[in-house]
Amino acid sequence: AEGKQRITLVVNGQRHQLDVTPNVILLDALRHGLQLTGTKKGCDHGQCGACTILVNGTSINSCLSLAVTHDGDEITTVEGLEKDGQQHPLQQAFLEHDAYQCGYCTAGQMMNALAVLQDDDIGTSDADVREAMSGNICRCGAYKNIVAAIQSARSAVKGGKA
Ligand code: FES
Ligand code: FES
Repeated sequence: AEGKQRITLVVNGQRHQLDVTPNVILLDALRHGLQLTGTKKGCDHGQCGACTILVNGTSINSCLSLAVTHDGDEITTVEGLEKDGQQHPLQQAFLEHDAYQCGYCTAGQMMNALAVLQDDDIGTSDADVREAMSGNICRCGAYKNIVAAIQSARSAVKGGKA
């Protein structure tokens, strides 16, 4: 269509072609273009982390990034955590540790947690995790349980089971 650009996104292992206008943010391309609504829009200004996804293995705020700049990129959203009907260790850990209340921040928390656990440059103490997760705001104040959940999923994620 006029003014649109065709891009390819590899989302949770599946290739998708999308026609987007140059001003469409990646978050809206996922939510509205691909109906992947697990990724949430909180502030829409890069300040809450609700929209966190992985792009080529790195966590980003998808509300701050234009879809057209991601042609060909590999994207993982919260929908990609579950494999073959099996919950991801982070999903199990968030459940076991009551790491959410309203749940609005949870997808973003888990996606950034995945990046944090996979980043060997980030220390492993609770303080290190809190610091690395500081861009993910939880209005319900579930921080203590979120950190506990992330720590408990560490060995499963590092062990390559995730
Ligand atoms: Fe993207 Fe808040 S919605 S950081
Ligand atoms: Fe409600 Fe975090 S669980 S915002």
